[in-house]
Amino acid sequence: MCGIIGYIGHQEAQNILLDGLHRLEYRGYDSAGIVVMHEGELALRKKAGRVPELSQLVAERPVTGTLGIGHTRWATHGEVNDANSHPHFGGEGEVCLVHNGVIENYTSLRDALQEKGYEFKTETDSEAVAHLLAYEYREQLGKNGSVADATSCLNALQATLKQLKGTYGLVVLFRDVPNTMFVARVGSPLVIGIGNKEHFVASDAGPLLGHTDEVVYLSDNELAVITADDLKIVHRDTGAIDPKVQIIEQSDGNADLGDYEHYMLKEIYEQPRAVENALRGRFNDDEATAVFGGLNMTAQQLRRIDRIVLTACGTSWHAGLVGEYLLEEFARVPTEVEYASELRYRNPPMSENTMIFAITQSGETADTLAAMRECKRKGHPTLAICNVVGSTIAREADGGIYLHAGPEIGVASTKAFTSQVTVLTLLALFFGRMRHLSYPAGKRIIRGLQSIPELMEQTLKCHEMVKYVAEKYSEKNNFLYLGRLYNFPVALEGALKLKEISYIHAEGYPAAEMKHGPLALVDKNTPSVFVVPKCGIYPKVISNLEEVKARKGPVIAIACHGDEKIAELADDVIYVPDVEEYLQPLITSIPLQLLSYHIALLRNCNVDRPRNLAKSVTVE
Ligand code: AGP
Repeated sequence: MCGIIGYIGHQEAQNILLDGLHRLEYRGYDSAGIVVMHEGELALRKKAGRVPELSQLVAERPVTGTLGIGHTRWATHGEVNDANSHPHFGGEGEVCLVHNGVIENYTSLRDALQEKGYEFKTETDSEAVAHLLAYEYREQLGKNGSVADATSCLNALQATLKQLKGTYGLVVLFRDVPNTMFVARVGSPLVIGIGNKEHFVASDAGPLLGHTDEVVYLSDNELAVITADDLKIVHRDTGAIDPKVQIIEQSDGNADLGDYEHYMLKEIYEQPRAVENALRGRFNDDEATAVFGGLNMTAQQLRRIDRIVLTACGTSWHAGLVGEYLLEEFARVPTEVEYASELRYRNPPMSENTMIFAITQSGETADTLAAMRECKRKGHPTLAICNVVGSTIAREADGGIYLHAGPEIGVASTKAFTSQVTVLTLLALFFGRMRHLSYPAGKRIIRGLQSIPELMEQTLKCHEMVKYVAEKYSEKNNFLYLGRLYNFPVALEGALKLKEISYIHAEGYPAAEMKHGPLALVDKNTPSVFVVPKCGIYPKVISNLEEVKARKGPVIAIACHGDEKIAELADDVIYVPDVEEYLQPLITSIPLQLLSYHIALLRNCNVDRPRNLAKSVTVE
């Protein structure tokens, strides 16, 4: 949520900043802006709208200079307009900053600063930080005989940070100190790239690729003072610390669109490969179990686990619900999936041997991070199932499992969902084989998982039929998504996909719950998408479907090849390959992803960047 970039070195900053913002745009795309230090002045270009619009503005009015900062915004405080775009200035322009996060006490700070005569030009919380910093800077200059140097700036920054409540990733420039960039973090990710006589700062490592592979991840309560040749890191409480330099892979995992029109479509089609990657090296065939390199727990410790709590948000929560069903079925370990935004403030009883898994594509979701920290604080082993290597959650977890799905750029999560479900299936196999699951049953699960990439390829062949269905129903304004057992989370996920990218109201329900209320919504204009592949309770789901048909509700069925009966009942059928029940979410979710994609296109919605949303939700 909000992308930050900074550069100091010997190259023109403008292009590096714009390119970085382009790569960070998935974090927010309400507005974008840069400031470049030019002949002792801070030259500002900012604008509501997307990064290409900022690039256009910069092309018309270029800025030269080798030090600069940039920001792409997801609005939290203040509407989307030019003024509220970052960077923001403090005082009379002597301080300039970009901010990611939320300053919870900004109104009291603003009131106090206004009383001191500071004039606010925006509705943002960030501007309060800029003015406070200017105020503290002036205080430092007063103490220091007006010597504007990096020490005065650092002292001012430290004094400012002590007064902030909330979260921030900040990159700051001081007009009178033209060769230094200041950085601070609490709760919002920042990574520093070390180049040859140059440094980069960004919200994630993406913008650094191609520039450097040496990075330092800033931790909470750390500040950095950065010049072209030098990097100093200071902890708020303990003083200077040695930067921990890490090497990142020099591959962006193919973040280009290639021949696809949208990232979402590309990522839907990448699922067979993503699942292959999630499975690679994770089977022990001889013992019919799964292998994980990063759990960082002994077999004895794992054997003692008597409860598992999965915590996540959005799509990752839906994957977690599949995980709950899988872990209870195969490992017989009581499992619960908790919304991270609730868990962080709830206090559910957890036995001493409860294990926590935070499930997250980005590894930066603020609620998931807070829930994870709360559980960690209570002493539970806390692990992550995460896609982005080096993300905050991945780094703070006691151990974990990476998805290896490659970058997911589309805001609507697709390949991360199926990769998460794949990893959770492996986890259920792993815990199951430590407990009650037999060798032949373990073997069967392995064979089932190995067949998935090919079956996903076959599933993608339903694309033309999905297009036809999308055209038929794209003008409807309400949809119901229904499924039972393993396909109930799929129904939830299908409804979320439709909502987020086509702005159509959609509800996911367990099919049998319809008669307890939602059936009242059914009429000839409300299509119901029934996820009804072959399963132990297939006849029961068919009864639920008939109840909808009896009320003249149009029915779109996702069913298995060879199911002829369904064609007589449903208005439209999208056929998918038949797989064992516990593997069905990996298959049945695909037509639902494609359906939301095509309906969104037909309604002229921005598929990859839906309104009001951002890929990585780093605010509470
Ligand atoms: C789904 O399509 C979403 N955009 C959203 O629900 C997402 O899954 C959620 O914000 C959690 O993100 P994470 O997996 O990166 O933690």
